[in-house]
Amino acid sequence: MKITLIAALAANRVIGINNTLPWKLSADLKRFKALTTGNTIVMGRKTFESLGRPLPGRRHICVSRTAPQNALQADPRWPEQVFWCGDLRAALQLLEKESASDSKTTLFIIGGAEIYRHALPWADTLELTHVQKNFDGDAFFPCFESLFEKTEESLSSEGELSFSFATWHSRRPKNLVMRRATPEDASFIALSQIKMAAESEGLKLNCATVEAGVNSVFADPNRGTYWIAEKLTAEKATPVACLLLQREWSDWRNGWFHWIHSLYVVPEERRQGICRWMLLVIREDSKTASALGLKLYVEKNNQAAQLVYKEFGLNGEHYDLLELEF
Ligand SMILES: NC(=O)c1ccc[n+]([C@@H]2O[C@H](COP(=O)([O-])OP(=O)(O)OC[C@H]3O[C@@H](n4cnc5c(N)ncnc54)[C@H](OP(=O)(O)O)[C@@H]3O)[C@@H](O)[C@H]2O)c1
Repeated sequence: MKITLIAALAANRVIGINNTLPWKLSADLKRFKALTTGNTIVMGRKTFESLGRPLPGRRHICVSRTAPQNALQADPRWPEQVFWCGDLRAALQLLEKESASDSKTTLFIIGGAEIYRHALPWADTLELTHVQKNFDGDAFFPCFESLFEKTEESLSSEGELSFSFATWHSRRPKNLVMRRATPEDASFIALSQIKMAAESEGLKLNCATVEAGVNSVFADPNRGTYWIAEKLTAEKATPVACLLLQREWSDWRNGWFHWIHSLYVVPEERRQGICRWMLLVIREDSKTASALGLKLYVEKNNQAAQLVYKEFGLNGEHYDLLELEF
């Protein structure tokens, strides 16, 4: 199954205002209809509400955290056309299973902002209408440019508005997906941290302490967000890398810096671009979250890791890290 995000965005990334579209572009609606008719479309609860009723000739999968977590539940108002699921990832997994990994099936993710942001790491293709003007808005398309390559673009205009239709293809390493971790990933994350401490600093961490530390992040999202990279085969997804993202408030800049911690790739999957891909995904997602920048600390003797981070543009020119452990 191929996953395509389809959206129209302004030059300043605006996609919506007050749960409606900020513009009227009949050419865009026509293209949307031509591409999606006959296929399954996935959307967030607010976008479905903004439609008012289902679109003809398409099966709708709507996600809302209030719906059942691991099933597609028919909507009693349109039982054959609209289905609800409580988790975006679970919905994508169920649809992948249903398509029996048929690479000809295309699933269209049609928004809105929250769903685009969460679905971006899974997308194979973006079908975007770039409206070449800034608009006021309260919903934005995520930052994506370094994760995708533009392969086609055609310019057009309607009334005063110039726009282009563009197709972008994902640059992600083959069969690799990066996503926010869930509590089911806790054991992999804890084990990875134990292995990393042993490998990079010769430290033997206490398993129970690390497991409790990892689980407490899932219990309180203010402590951070774990991300997982996993390799996909027809049968299963195998986690191969993880990292922890934490936030630090800057009063000087009145905003958040994002810290990358504990980036670990399992040894047999190294030198395949996984680390670099994870950094790119985090950079784009952090920009989407309006973070001020990225920071991390790296062990002084870990030359290999330092090289990867420096190539990525992270540098140690400003500060030395001083510590006093209790
Ligand atoms: N220009 C375009 O191409 C385009 C396309 C589509 C939409 N839009 C615009 O985008 C705006 C709407 O975007 P939005 O971000 O406010 O809303 P949205 O993404 O359409 O829907 C958000 C809702 O989806 C559910 N949800 C989000 N992430 C989930 C997850 N991982 N698992 C399960 N459920 C999840 C939650 O529903 P619950 O609160 O029920 O839990 C959440 O409140 C509107 O202005 C619309 O017009 C523009």
